[in-house]
Amino acid sequence: MGQVVSQCTGPIFECRTGRESSGNHAANSRVPTSSSSSSSKRIQSMIENRSNFSSEAELNIEFSKIHWSELSTDSGTDDASTRLANREYFQVLKNHPEWGGFFKDINVVLGEKISEGGQAEIYDAKVEFADGRKFGYGYHVVKLMKGNNPLQAFQRQWPVGMLRNVSIDNSKGPLMYIKGGTMIDNRFGFVMVRQWGDLRKLIDLKMQLNNNRGPPFKIEFVMKVMNCIANDMTKLHNEYGIVHRDLKASNILLWSVGDGLPDENPHVKATVVDYECSVGVVGTGFWRAPEILQQLKDRVKNSDLEFTKMADIYSFGMICYELLTGCIPFEGYDFQAHDLFFGQERPNMLEDDASDRLYIIEIIKCCLEHEPLCRPTFSELLDISRLEPFQTMDFASKLELHRYGNKFYRVELQGHLKERNGQE
Ligand SMILES: Nc1ncnc2c1ncn2[C@@H]1O[C@H](COP(=O)(O)OP(=O)(O)O)[C@@H](O)[C@H]1O
Ligand SMILES: [Mg+2]
Repeated sequence: MGQVVSQCTGPIFECRTGRESSGNHAANSRVPTSSSSSSSKRIQSMIENRSNFSSEAELNIEFSKIHWSELSTDSGTDDASTRLANREYFQVLKNHPEWGGFFKDINVVLGEKISEGGQAEIYDAKVEFADGRKFGYGYHVVKLMKGNNPLQAFQRQWPVGMLRNVSIDNSKGPLMYIKGGTMIDNRFGFVMVRQWGDLRKLIDLKMQLNNNRGPPFKIEFVMKVMNCIANDMTKLHNEYGIVHRDLKASNILLWSVGDGLPDENPHVKATVVDYECSVGVVGTGFWRAPEILQQLKDRVKNSDLEFTKMADIYSFGMICYELLTGCIPFEGYDFQAHDLFFGQERPNMLEDDASDRLYIIEIIKCCLEHEPLCRPTFSELLDISRLEPFQTMDFASKLELHRYGNKFYRVELQGHLKERNGQE
């Protein structure tokens, strides 16, 4: 495994501040900086335009459009025959021997629209389950799919790993928040537990409260969220066989109780969501790995796109970047300028002196490696963070060591480190 790591390009990550990229690949354009805050034109615009919106939800929806998912382009018709076919097809789904349990007759009354994404509108909902359990507004949401696709076409977008596992047991892990799929007035919707909101919403709020000066969070919160995501993604990848294809802060929901913001709550939890329709998603903007952008540029058909687990890791690196800086990746760049990003270009980063922040920058560097095999897996990320004896090593060396996986070598190295640190 050590071999794989040695093919990697090494330190490719550029830290820049206060200047736009020249568009040259970054290899020779290191700009050291000592600044420790970041700001965003998008956040500035949110601050200046708040009064033009009648509600916080409307403001958030408008400013979330820039990071809505890109979808496959199929579209259907909303005629009476499609609606009837949908109802009939729903019965077929319910009787599926392997994952029919996912589809349920749930009595739903839609309340206010609380959010929207590229694929769906999210409504607060009153819910009554078939076993008699009843909930008022505030406990569940319905994710109502946009578009007029026949249900049969939607079904092709749902990962079987989700349908099967929610049917068997959705009491734990990242599947916990999905209660099932149901028909609401001939439209299909997912019924889900209502959470505080998404991580991007919290970042935007914190940046506005900080008067558009990052970083938005204390390092403990950053680490906690990274850990929750890595845990969920390890399960999605390794237990349920689901590649997410659209990881970004707006697809991480936060669970928090009480009046304060979630990052002030020591019991906050972050959950990876929005993989329900992942098969039909082509990811979002610059959260996508270079190998995905390359396929799009080569006009590979959406259904033939090769999305690997390593592409999810790249997107995770971009979430860490959002957490650390408050900015979205390559903010302000014209997305059509794909070519800029097939090389080693990386988003602007701000270095500061705090070693715990530098450690996260190290992790981001590894996740954003151009070569997919050089990126860590989610389970490696979790394991490596537990490798206590190697605190003094940078993340890339830890990864190499972990992959080498030789206990004897580790013991040797431990001795070497002690010697170097003057302990022997
Ligand atoms: N269970 C939930 N509780 C609270 N807000 C939610 C919930 N599910 C989704 N949202 C909000 O709705 C947005 C869009 O939902 P999402 O499932 O990501 O749809 P899309 O597939 O259209 O992106 C999320 O970014 C989040 O702000
Ligand atoms: Mg989403």
